[in-house]
Amino acid sequence: MIDVQHITKRYGRVTAVDDVSFRVERGEILGFLGPNGAGKTTTMRILTGYMPPSEGRAAIAGFDTFDQPIEAKRRTGYLPETPPLYPDMTVREYLDFVGRIKGVPPKQRKDRVAEVMQRVHITDMAARHCAKLSKGYRQRVGIAQALIHNPDVLILDEPTAGLDPKQIIETRELIRSLAGDHTIVLSTHILPEVSQTCQRVVIINKGRVVAVDTPQNLIARLKGAETMFVQVDAGSEDAAVALERVPGVTRVTVSEQPGVAGGYEVESDRGVDVRRELARAVVTRGWGLLELRPMRMSLEEVFLQVTTEEKPEEATRA
Ligand SMILES: Nc1ncnc2c1ncn2[C@@H]1O[C@H](COP(=O)(O)OP(=O)(O)O)[C@@H](O)[C@H]1O
Ligand SMILES: [Mg+2]
Repeated sequence: MIDVQHITKRYGRVTAVDDVSFRVERGEILGFLGPNGAGKTTTMRILTGYMPPSEGRAAIAGFDTFDQPIEAKRRTGYLPETPPLYPDMTVREYLDFVGRIKGVPPKQRKDRVAEVMQRVHITDMAARHCAKLSKGYRQRVGIAQALIHNPDVLILDEPTAGLDPKQIIETRELIRSLAGDHTIVLSTHILPEVSQTCQRVVIINKGRVVAVDTPQNLIARLKGAETMFVQVDAGSEDAAVALERVPGVTRVTVSEQPGVAGGYEVESDRGVDVRRELARAVVTRGWGLLELRPMRMSLEEVFLQVTTEEKPEEATRA
């Protein structure tokens, strides 16, 4: 349903998004997880046709977001980081207005507005001016405007940012209830968000995709193993076999770092410190130990950066 291929976006000398590719199947909820500045909003703006990529292409239901923008946008609902509400309009007026822009036929518009208000539980706010809405209601109206033309795809940029814990739970339930009928991509910099709402996660850091997997697998991968980088001068011998024999080592692969000879990535069970034994295995064979250091996976870096607590953000950050 969504196909992103090798998207790169540069702002002057800043590369905000760097060769990002992923696909989302129909009815799926995909989480786009990464710390602030990772490139989430930029990717979503490209997906929704608000901005062209510098390189690469994105398609919604087979329609290129730049060559066939009208067809692509017809199938896409977008909740930007800040919902674009008009303060002087009531909720009903605003949704009717968005419906008109999005091409909902006049005869259907009233029913459609009532339908989406019901769907996101804001019917009792219909006559309230947008300016007078709480943050939680503003976010729901934002989701309602994304739904008004019944798009196949929903792109939600940090849909729970700035909400209080109760509103966060309600919004997650709402999003889950929309899956199936809609294909959803939501971005977040908060880990629990993806584990509770999404079936699959793309982890992005500094503009690059560092992992794509289910939340369960990602967490298992992180907990499961530790990797050391070892560089050995073993002459003409292959050091891999010797390294593999060290107790606690589960896997040895030849490092693919360019220009590094005799480099190995050594995986071990988490919690087992194999460094001394690795060093001994090398030295007792008379080889040179050139380097031995833990490898921080970028996946792990991201997990360390993304908040694991459910803290509503300070209003000042918005
Ligand atoms: N309009 C812009 N001009 C210049 N740099 C930008 C612009 N928008 C975003 N950036 C930069 O691109 C990077 C990614 O930003 P963004 O996509 O907003 O990340 P995220 O949504 O993950 O926080 C950041 O380094 C940000 O400073
Ligand atoms: Mg953002």
